[in-house]
Amino acid sequence: MRYSWLIGLLVAVLGFTVTANPVRRQQQQFVGYLISTFSDPVPQVQQYLSNDNNPLSYRKLNGGNPVLTSIVGTRAVRDIYLTSNSARSEYYIIATDINAPGFSWDRATRTGSRGLVVWRSTDLVNWSGPNLRTVESTTAGMAWAPSAVWDDATSQYYVFWSSRLYAANDPNHTGSAGLDRIRYATTRDFVTFSAPLDYYAPANIPVIDQEFLYLGQPGHYVRFIKDERTNQIFQERTTGGLFGSWTRNPGFVRNETPREGAVAFRNNLDPNLYHLWLDDYVQYLPYQTTNILNPGIWTPSNTNGFPGGVKHGSVFPLTQADMKFLCTLPCVVIAIALPPPETQAINDLIYPYATYRYRVQTGKTVIDPQDQLLIVKNGKSAYEITTIVTFQFDQSTQGKTCELVFELWDRDVSTGTQTLDVFTYSDPPRPLVQLTAADIVQLVSAKSRDNHAGRICSEA
Ligand SMILES: *[C@@H]1O[C@H](CO)[C@@H](O)[C@H](O)[C@H]1NC(C)=O
Ligand SMILES: *[C@@H]1O[C@H](CO)[C@@H](O)[C@H](O)[C@H]1NC(C)=O
Repeated sequence: MRYSWLIGLLVAVLGFTVTANPVRRQQQQFVGYLISTFSDPVPQVQQYLSNDNNPLSYRKLNGGNPVLTSIVGTRAVRDIYLTSNSARSEYYIIATDINAPGFSWDRATRTGSRGLVVWRSTDLVNWSGPNLRTVESTTAGMAWAPSAVWDDATSQYYVFWSSRLYAANDPNHTGSAGLDRIRYATTRDFVTFSAPLDYYAPANIPVIDQEFLYLGQPGHYVRFIKDERTNQIFQERTTGGLFGSWTRNPGFVRNETPREGAVAFRNNLDPNLYHLWLDDYVQYLPYQTTNILNPGIWTPSNTNGFPGGVKHGSVFPLTQADMKFLCTLPCVVIAIALPPPETQAINDLIYPYATYRYRVQTGKTVIDPQDQLLIVKNGKSAYEITTIVTFQFDQSTQGKTCELVFELWDRDVSTGTQTLDVFTYSDPPRPLVQLTAADIVQLVSAKSRDNHAGRICSEA
């Protein structure tokens, strides 16, 4: 028997990570594109195949259901990255091992997974895995947003991710950490990795979500990195290879914020045209340029046919041979259909199933809000927001009582009355599914204030 609970609550769910893409490109004929991504409601690997050779128009593979499901680590993945060697004799999908939405970002950066979830394939259709491969040292709080670059000269992959590091004398990571930085290791097989090292750790800027873009000439790359202070992406370039010196373009690729999880790739048909997709915490927005080395030239792309809800992932150019596997199976991918975990309980903690931000006046609902105010009650009804968090319990919790844990980050502030009322509501037993906006409107209006569970007051 399952019970779902709805509670109006105020935790700050914070900005998340991301990256993705490029593989060293040879003079190959690319005939399409493959997006590997996840969605907030279903943080498992999903794929989209381009309609013909159109980089902005896609159809879902496997009917939109996950093509791969993680049953290792936290049993959920985000920031999906697909890579291969230049011979295309093998393919890897690597991803952040993280169970979101709606859980504690603070915990995820102190004692998050230090491993990457890895799948391997020789044909892009049949995958082995998942395997959880630890890449980070014990001083690291997490390993987020992986990407990889195959190096022909040394026949290995350089693997990059974001992390933050704690002092060696703080084994439980309860103190403050260094700034978010880009780390790397090398591997030949995604089973064993060299010891992790800093790749890019600027003194004053917390950075995550690095994406490389190969410009088609040895050593010539552009890279995109998220500045965690402004939640914007900046662009750098080099002609000296991944470990050469990099020159930063002034400002950011776009002025809007938030933007993260850059995906960048070259157009298959026009070698001067490049694409940059930026995740606005809801989905990717596509941009393009024919002037890759100049700052400030990323203009919005046409979004006719561009899929909604695509999150931090990667875009992989497909050869005719790749396409043969993907498309002779009329675009059906063999899914590893595993049931979702019964609960999201880890070490006695049950993480939220989903989080919703509900505007009381308009009924507008946002799923998995990130970097947004979660509770607003300022006397103006147009601004009033209630947050709903759902949990799923299985039978093993029957007869037990639970405690609600509210974790805040240092940057979270409480203003106004600095009080928060928490209400709980237990639904009649039913499978807990992703609620629709209509469900939320109905539940909030009918049920949300059934049981007053308590009031939280913040300290001055
Ligand atoms: C995937 O593996 C299955 C079972 O081994 C096999 O029948 C199928 O032909 C494979 N698919 C491809 C595209 O190789
Ligand atoms: C870390 O946590 C463990 C388990 O709670 C505890 O036994 C240990 O003393 C802690 N270590 C430090 C240095 O605080």
